[in-house]
Amino acid sequence: MALGAKLKIGDHEVELPVVVGTEDEVGVDVSALRSSTGAITLDEGFVNTGSTTSAITYLDGEKGILRYRGYPVEQLAANCSFLEVSYLLIHGELPTAAQLAEYQDLIRQHTMVHESIRKFFDGFMPGAHPMAILSAVVGALASFYPDSLDVNDPFQVHVSAVRLLAKTPTIAAYAHKESIGQPLVYPKNKLEYCANFLHMMFSVPAEEYEVDPDDAEALNLLLIVHADHEQNCSTSTVRMVGSSDANLFASISAGIAALSGPLHGGANEACVNMLERIRKDGSNVSKYVDMAKDKANNFRLMGFGHRVYKNYDPRAKIIKAACDKLLSKGKVNDPIFEIAQKLEEVALTDGYFVERKLYPNVDFYSGVIYRALGIPIEMFTVLFAMGRMPGWIAHWLEMRKSPGKKINRPRQIYTGPTEREFVPLAKRK
Ligand code: CMC
Repeated sequence: MALGAKLKIGDHEVELPVVVGTEDEVGVDVSALRSSTGAITLDEGFVNTGSTTSAITYLDGEKGILRYRGYPVEQLAANCSFLEVSYLLIHGELPTAAQLAEYQDLIRQHTMVHESIRKFFDGFMPGAHPMAILSAVVGALASFYPDSLDVNDPFQVHVSAVRLLAKTPTIAAYAHKESIGQPLVYPKNKLEYCANFLHMMFSVPAEEYEVDPDDAEALNLLLIVHADHEQNCSTSTVRMVGSSDANLFASISAGIAALSGPLHGGANEACVNMLERIRKDGSNVSKYVDMAKDKANNFRLMGFGHRVYKNYDPRAKIIKAACDKLLSKGKVNDPIFEIAQKLEEVALTDGYFVERKLYPNVDFYSGVIYRALGIPIEMFTVLFAMGRMPGWIAHWLEMRKSPGKKINRPRQIYTGPTEREFVPLAKRK
């Protein structure tokens, strides 16, 4: 059945085309609304606005479904390496064994950063937040790799995408090492992606360091569940910046900045801070649930609620199961895990949270695993950025290839003063 939409503005009625996705999602195409009626749509926070069609990730927030290129995230998390999932997101298909081996080799060749980039790290203030460092250094990659900045050259774009995937763990680990005053550790390319990152994070030149395979496995899983989430704030930022023909490094740097906010990726750090606060305050979970419900108090339960999920976030389920697995191996020995479980139990049976369909999101349990791996709290969102990198790249590429590609430029309804006479400085009161 062909769907149509009609809109009446005053006496003027217009017919609007309807776009239906492969999962039967319906979108009313308003792109010609202004030219035919003079009116625009207004949707603050884009609660109801589709900014694009996309073939990368499908999520159904009511049913708690998340699929990358059609594959359920649960299956990918149980069976794949992070680079395999990166390949899937960026290329659209799972790699064959030969393609994966070639891809891993390619990424390995680019793990080091230009020696001058290492000097950057000395310039940041001690205690600088690693997300600020990551965003700055990723943006600065454009100044070090001018040979891969032409957004119209598919080979250059491919090279910059490989550089970003390969170098982000190195930059992230450098940010951490600098903050604790230890020497920056070069990548060791015989290690696979996650193990290499852990090696750069935790080894010191003076001692032997063996990566614990359980830790590398847990990190691999965390990176996969963070790898894409369709048109979220940071991904929309990456697409928007890229729509101006800005290069991939600049676009991703802006995405990292968007991710840093506590309502987005920064929630994992804020969540562990909150759990710690509850612990130090006598583990009185109900007190904090009440605070979150109190409209006079701006406190929110971090790691709870989501714009799209009105059901348990499937990523939170996977992470919770991984926490349980690490717990059974004696690797999670953290009082905040117990507090988190109690908090979840209380919140999920409380009318306020039930009515508003507020469930734990991806950030609720991820911090517990990061802590079990010895990752310091200020690095949590940096790990989110590492995981989201292939998603950002895939979306940037899709945006570039879209036949209808235009610079993203929303409109507004002006509510300021109407025209008024200029008052010279001397006459102003
Ligand atoms: N604690 C208490 N109340 C909440 C919470 C929360 N965490 N989240 C939403 N609400 C209430 C909110 O006050 C509002 O109530 P009312 O209808 O009475 O005004 C209602 O639920 C709807 O909330 P909203 O703010 O209109 O929903 P939104 O879609 O604009 O915001 C959100 C989504 C994720 C920003 C929000 O749920 C939130 O602030 N959560 C805490 C931060 C967090 O965990 N963010 C991570 C999101 S998932 C990963 C990611 O995106 O990076």
